[in-house]
Formats: sequence, structure tokens, C-alpha cells
Amino acid sequence: MKPQTTPRLVLIDDPLSTTSEAYRVLRTNLHYANPDAPLRRILVTSAAPTEGKSTTVSNLGVALAQTERSVLLVDADLRRPILHLIFNQRPSPGLTSYLAGEGSFQAAIAKTSIPNLSLVPSGRIPPNPAELLASRRMREFLDAAVEKYDVVLLDSHPILPVTDACALAAMMDGVVLVVGSGTTPEGAVRRAKEQVEAAHGKIVGVVVNRLETKSDGYSRYYRYYGKQKKPVK
Ligand SMILES: Nc1ncnc2c1ncn2[C@@H]1O[C@H](COP(=O)(O)OP(=O)(O)OP(=O)(O)O)[C@@H](O)[C@H]1O
Ligand SMILES: [Mg+2]
Repeated sequence: MKPQTTPRLVLIDDPLSTTSEAYRVLRTNLHYANPDAPLRRILVTSAAPTEGKSTTVSNLGVALAQTERSVLLVDADLRRPILHLIFNQRPSPGLTSYLAGEGSFQAAIAKTSIPNLSLVPSGRIPPNPAELLASRRMREFLDAAVEKYDVVLLDSHPILPVTDACALAAMMDGVVLVVGSGTTPEGAVRRAKEQVEAAHGKIVGVVVNRLETKSDGYSRYYRYYGKQKKPVK
């Protein structure tokens, strides 16, 4: 696999771009996805690697924080964590420190330079990520997180190679599936969706990442909920 560049916070670097606007549209769509009970725990995942989960979750986190909501971003990708690099933080202590009983909830949290946005980095990479993420302690972590923050956003490992994200899906209010445009076969996306649903997760949105756009050279995304499939803009 070729080396990746660290995902970009386009909402900070280029807030007026069409890509930044697309993330704001995603924020609004998620807000209206369940109007009676706002989605407060959201997992971002994908079928296969490198489809754009970390890029999406980071920019969505910034977009939400910019509306004065307190946001906690959690790096629950315990195999290829990257959120600490995007936000210039140390990787540890973090989620695994808390899950292993090595520190308090508060000790796992880092403040970012972005107002209203805090981060829980992954912590040290453990030998047993799936078990840790499915644990009672993980549920306790999420309960503590929603008590203190308006929205809790989780980055995760892709669905198809391992079970980590499925274990988390049932603990969430909603799951956003990121699909890399032109990279992932339709069958793989369908299998990922089925696995999330079999794990009692609720898919609340699909982000199609890396669609070519002539305006700013980065990405635009389209989304659909349920059976509806139409471009956002
Ligand atoms: N819309 C985009 N336009 C341009 N580059 C992008 C876009 N989305 C992601 N990338 C780049 O693609 C690479 C993979 O993105 P990202 O790390 O967000 O994917 P991921 O799904 O989190 O990957 P992994 O499975 O390794 O966790 C990064 O180098 C990122 O900068
Ligand atoms: Mg990632």
C-alpha cells in the first residue's frame, strides 16, 4: 500500500471551498436524520481501507464544533490511528489507556486548538483491539462522553477486514458509511452495510468521498439515506 498523506482539515485551511460547504451540508443532514432525538454518538466507518473515514470524521467534527456544540472526537481505529497527527497531539494517553484501566476518562482527553473540539487519541496500539472495543468499559466510556459532550464522533477501522467497527455499531445512535468513489466494489459496500445492520447498527448516511470536482480539486460528497439516492448539490 502506498504511503498516505495526513488528511487535511479543509474547513480550517479553506473554509469557503465547495468541499467545506459539503461538510457543512453533511452536518445539517445528520442533524435532520433523526429530528426527534438528535444523533449524539456517531460512528464513521467504511467497507475497505483508505476510503476517507479519518478525513470525513475530522472535518465533520470541525463543522459541528463551529456551531458551538461541544464535540468529542474519538480515535477508535486501534489498528491505524491517525487523528492525533491531524490535530497535532500525542497518541497516548488515549482510549486504550482508559479501556485498560490505566487512567481516568478525563486523562484520556486532549484539547485541540479548535474551539469546542476535544480529542481522545487512540492510546497505545493493543494486541486485542476487537475485544477492547466490545468491552463493558467501552460502553462506560461512551456513557461518560455523552454526559459531557453534545456530540461524540468515532473514527474506526474498516468493516470488512475485522469486526472492530461492528462491535461499536450497536453502541451508537448512528453509523455513517464512507465510500471511496470508484475504489470500492458495490458488493463490498453492500456487505459492509449488511454487517453493520446484523450488528444492530443503524446507518444514517453514506458519504461518497473523492468525487472529482472542477472547482477546488479536493472532494465533494453525495449522500443518501435508506433507499433514496440523490446528489446533495
Ligand atoms: N476527498 C479527498 N480528497 C483528496 N484526498 C483525500 C480525500 N479523502 C481522503 N484523502 C486522502 O486519502 C488518504 C486516506 O484518507 P483517510 O486517512 O481519511 O482514509 P481512512 O479511510 O481513514 O484510511 P484508513 O483505512 O487507513 O484508516 C489520506 O492521504 C487523505 O489525505
Ligand atoms: Mg483512518
